[in-house]
Amino acid sequence: MSKPRILVASLVFPEVVQRLAQHFEVEAIAEGEQWPQEEFARRLADKDGAYITGGHRIDAALLAACPRLRIVSNMAVGHNNFDVAAMTAAGVQGTNTPDVLTETTADFGFALLMAAARRMAEAEAWLRAGRWQRWRYDMFAGSEVHGSTLAILGMGRIGQAIAQRGAWGFGMQVIYHNRSRLDATAEAACQARYVGMDELLAQADHLVLVLPYTSEAHHIIGTRELARMKPTATLVNIGRGGLVDELALADALRGGRLAAAGLDVFEGEPEVNPALLDLPNVVLTPHIASATVPTRLAMANLAADNLIAFFDGRGALTPVNAPVRFSQGKNG
Ligand code: GLV
Repeated sequence: MSKPRILVASLVFPEVVQRLAQHFEVEAIAEGEQWPQEEFARRLADKDGAYITGGHRIDAALLAACPRLRIVSNMAVGHNNFDVAAMTAAGVQGTNTPDVLTETTADFGFALLMAAARRMAEAEAWLRAGRWQRWRYDMFAGSEVHGSTLAILGMGRIGQAIAQRGAWGFGMQVIYHNRSRLDATAEAACQARYVGMDELLAQADHLVLVLPYTSEAHHIIGTRELARMKPTATLVNIGRGGLVDELALADALRGGRLAAAGLDVFEGEPEVNPALLDLPNVVLTPHIASATVPTRLAMANLAADNLIAFFDGRGALTPVNAPVRFSQGKNG
C-alpha cells in the first residue's frame, strides 16, 4: 500500500518534517523558497494532504484542481484561510491547532496591551536614538493598566485567558462582548461581565480584539466604533488584521482620538500600512503572539498528529469541519 503524499508548504521544525516522513511521502518547502498561491496549487494537485501555516487559501477553485486532496492541516488556531463550506462539500477535512497556544497567546496579548498603554516601544526607540538628555516628570506618561477597565471582544479560550490575567493579576474590571454569552461558571472564572457592543466601546480603557475573522467581522472596528471609545483608550489586535480599518485607526491615533494601539496582525501582512509605520503611539509586531519555542513546537506537532491520525483511520484530532473519514479505496 503506497504512503499518502503530503505537501508541507510552510517551513516548520525539521524534526516535525522528519516525523511526517516516517508516515508519508513528503514534499517540503526548503529554506529560501516561497510558493505563491499558484505554485502551491500546482504542487498540491497530486497530493493527499497538506500541512500549512495559514498563509495559503483553501477555496473551491483550489479544491477542484486537487482531486486527491483529503485533508488540510493548518498550524494555527485561526483558519480564515479555509473556505470551510467548500472543503466540506469537497469532502476535505480541515484541522487547526487550538488549546496548545491559549496561554502563550494570552500572555502576548497582555504584553502588547502593557507595551502600548505604557508607551514602551516609543520610549525605547527614543532612548536608542540617544535623545535622553535629562529626566522629566511627564516623560512617556501613559495610561494606567491595574484597576482599569479591560474590554474583550471575542470571548473564546484566548479571550478568557486574557480576562483572567486582567481580573486576577491586575485587579481590572473585565467586560466582554461575544456572539454568545458565557455561562455563569465561565463568567465567574474570569470575573467578566457581558455587555453590548456600544457599552464595550464606551467603557473600555483597553480594548482587546481576539475574535475570529469572518466576513461579518470585517472592519468591526472602524471610524464609527473608534469615535465611541475614550480618547485615553488603548486598542490591541491579536485576532486578524481585517478586524480593524487600519486607515481609520491611524487617523484616530494621529488625531489624538485614541491614545495608543498594539497590533500583532495586519490586513495585508506581511505588508504593513505605511500610515501605521509612521506613528509613534502604535506598537507593531509581526504576528508572533504564539511564538515561544515550546508553544510553536506543540502547534507543529499537533498539526502533524492531525495528519497522522486522519490517515491511520482514527480521524483528525482537532477538525474544524464535519469529520471526514479516510479510506484508502477512495483515492484509488
Ligand atoms: C495565529 O494567528 C493563529 O491563528 O494560530
